[in-house]
Amino acid sequence: MPLPEKMPLALIEDDEIVRQATSQWLQLDGHQVLEFADGESALNQLPPDFPGIIISDVRLPDIDGMALLPRLLERHPEIPVILITGHGDVDMAVKALRDGAFDFVEKPFDPARLLQTVARALETRRSQTAQQDRHAYLAQAEGLEKVLIGRSEAMVRLRQQLLKVAAIDTNVIIYGETGCGKELVAHCLHQFSTRNQREFVPINCAAIPENLFESELFGHEAGAFTGAVKRRVGKLEYADQGTLFLDEVESMPLNMQVKVLRALQENTVERVGGNRPIHIDLRVIAAAKEDLHHHPEFRQDLFYRLNVAQLYLPPLAERSEDILLLFDHYTHQVNPDTRLPSPSDQQALMRYPWPGNVRELKNIATRFALDPSLTVGEILASRPNLTTEPSSATLPLAIQVQNFERKVIHECLQRHHGSIIDALEELDLPRRTLNQKMQKYGLSRSDYT
Ligand SMILES: Nc1ncnc2c1ncn2[C@@H]1O[C@H](COP(=O)(O)OP(=O)(O)OP(=O)(O)O)[C@@H](O)[C@H]1O
Ligand SMILES: [Mg+2]
Repeated sequence: MPLPEKMPLALIEDDEIVRQATSQWLQLDGHQVLEFADGESALNQLPPDFPGIIISDVRLPDIDGMALLPRLLERHPEIPVILITGHGDVDMAVKALRDGAFDFVEKPFDPARLLQTVARALETRRSQTAQQDRHAYLAQAEGLEKVLIGRSEAMVRLRQQLLKVAAIDTNVIIYGETGCGKELVAHCLHQFSTRNQREFVPINCAAIPENLFESELFGHEAGAFTGAVKRRVGKLEYADQGTLFLDEVESMPLNMQVKVLRALQENTVERVGGNRPIHIDLRVIAAAKEDLHHHPEFRQDLFYRLNVAQLYLPPLAERSEDILLLFDHYTHQVNPDTRLPSPSDQQALMRYPWPGNVRELKNIATRFALDPSLTVGEILASRPNLTTEPSSATLPLAIQVQNFERKVIHECLQRHHGSIIDALEELDLPRRTLNQKMQKYGLSRSDYT
């Protein structure tokens, strides 16, 4: 839905001279004004989905403005209502704010002050409407669009490509920076393929110690080496007829690259210590952060085998249309009643460079939804930039300490691949304390597993 460029103002004022003068100021400022001489006619004529804001005098002939306010808000709970109060009605004004008025302007008023208040109210209204539009989009999304969220041109195109590629059972390489959604895309490729009744088997090539790699991938027979007590089925065999996901494939040791290539060429695996080739039927999806073509540490024959199709995930900062959409999606997931991000919250979100991409946005949104006292700016300031060292000299000590604490926990979870037990031991913390700190810093176990 395109958002209306110009939002109407409803002006409720019984004094005809004042009403006309006010209306004129507003129109000269470029606004479209609907005039009402009393409260009832405004209540009757404004549609429930009135897209603008309301400015109302509190002294009206038919209904007291203070009684009108709750009735207006009952019908139009979102709409900012600016009240015009008589001189000296401070108590009334305070009560009005408590009851949900957007602001009040004291009579006789300075037109510039009224116009400023109107501009702020319109800005709030605009961001409400934009958020409603995003929520409506998220609610109607179905299938792939509901999982791989985004309205930017890049995401729309990616979903189209993904569905095409999913249908043609070929190997795929997915490129993208950290936290961009490579694993999510790999999962979607599997879900939307004919192999979706079989296993999706992820292997993080950067996380497996080199000496365990072969047994992890190819399995072993009992007694194949010291410690191989029982027979073990490797990941390639386990993924038979399903999808094998080679994450961080550029980290695969060179000798393993040779073996994986042979397995893919011959469609067979041999368990370590076994002498019988086992037939496998695999689709391989690989994810990489670096270009594998001409990569000095990546075998080009394996590259060509994998590179039948390619999907490229642009960094979040390059698809800024998706930032608020994903923010709304994640805050809504944590708490459907999360407050509307203020204009400065939204600016902070739009300006931030997002080195950790969607994963980082998800963490920020989660913290925003969990702690109503925080602004986005505060959350971002208390968060170490995970890719570059922040110039911490200018930050208050308390924030530097928090940044450091967050970094220690983040790196510990990374080292232990999200194992809370190992992290507790290393940090020597009670579980409750670690949980609280992880929540405070928006760290989620699942991002490390
Ligand atoms: N377009 C998207 N819509 C909804 N969620 C997304 C989207 N992109 C990423 N995410 C979420 O962001 C988080 C990070 O995504 P994912 O783990 O797939 O990234 P990645 O590219 O594999 O990162 P890394 O390179 O660090 O492994 C996940 O929780 C994922 O569900
Ligand atoms: Mg990943």
